[in-house]
Amino acid sequence: MDSSAADLDFHAAGALLDWLAELGADEAIGDGPVNRYEFKPEVRNAAAPPPAAPPVGAEADPVAVAKAAVAGAVNLETLAEIQSAYDLCDLKRGARNFVFADGNPEARVMILGEAPGREEDLEGRPFVGRAGQLLDRMFAAIGLARTAHHGGEALYITNVMPWRPPQNREPDAAEIAMMLPFVARHVEFVNPDLIVLMGNISCAAALGQRGILRLRGKWTEAFGRPAMPMTHPAYLLRNPAAKREAWADLLEIRARMQEMP
Ligand code: URA
Repeated sequence: MDSSAADLDFHAAGALLDWLAELGADEAIGDGPVNRYEFKPEVRNAAAPPPAAPPVGAEADPVAVAKAAVAGAVNLETLAEIQSAYDLCDLKRGARNFVFADGNPEARVMILGEAPGREEDLEGRPFVGRAGQLLDRMFAAIGLARTAHHGGEALYITNVMPWRPPQNREPDAAEIAMMLPFVARHVEFVNPDLIVLMGNISCAAALGQRGILRLRGKWTEAFGRPAMPMTHPAYLLRNPAAKREAWADLLEIRARMQEMP
């Protein structure tokens, strides 16, 4: 790989990836390319000064930058603009699209998913792959759809991460933390009656807890409103037997909505 690998366009990078796969590479071990053939002359002069450390305080704190940025958002549109311009999340560099949200912002129910996968990254919309199709069918069963015009029958869907992680790896704690101010503001603007936390990453972000199989099905509070943790539809595709519990959780959501004015 030559030193200009980082400058490849999408198609050239795709061809390079295919070639690496043909050579037998089957796993990415880092987020960025490493040129292992690069010539690095050995430093023999012991008296040479060590490379200068970055000045203290020069590195921006990604969470503080995110908090300052969201303060400028006045509605969903400006929030999307501000979030897509945020540059301190490395996932942005590997993603094709910024995936903000889908559905009706008037919805009473807001779903917080984890991160875009391949299809979502290609399309720029959350939950459009197989897991998303299952999610649509699950919520249709309790009369809710992202395409519904009336807020009481509508869904609004977003993710903790707006950029696809490489190889669909889990976002790490630092990546989640820097997106949290955006998610909190997102919830404020949509102002749903209740939130569905889809999977472990959403629970980690909203509740600071993991363990979805323990958390699911029990009402909790996230961003100051009732929240229901549920197993992720991708998990349900792999474990169809768990659909029974997911159905119970959906019925809980419907019952709670009926109780609310
Ligand atoms: N899984 C998620 O959590 N979100 C998506 O958008 C797609 C798959």
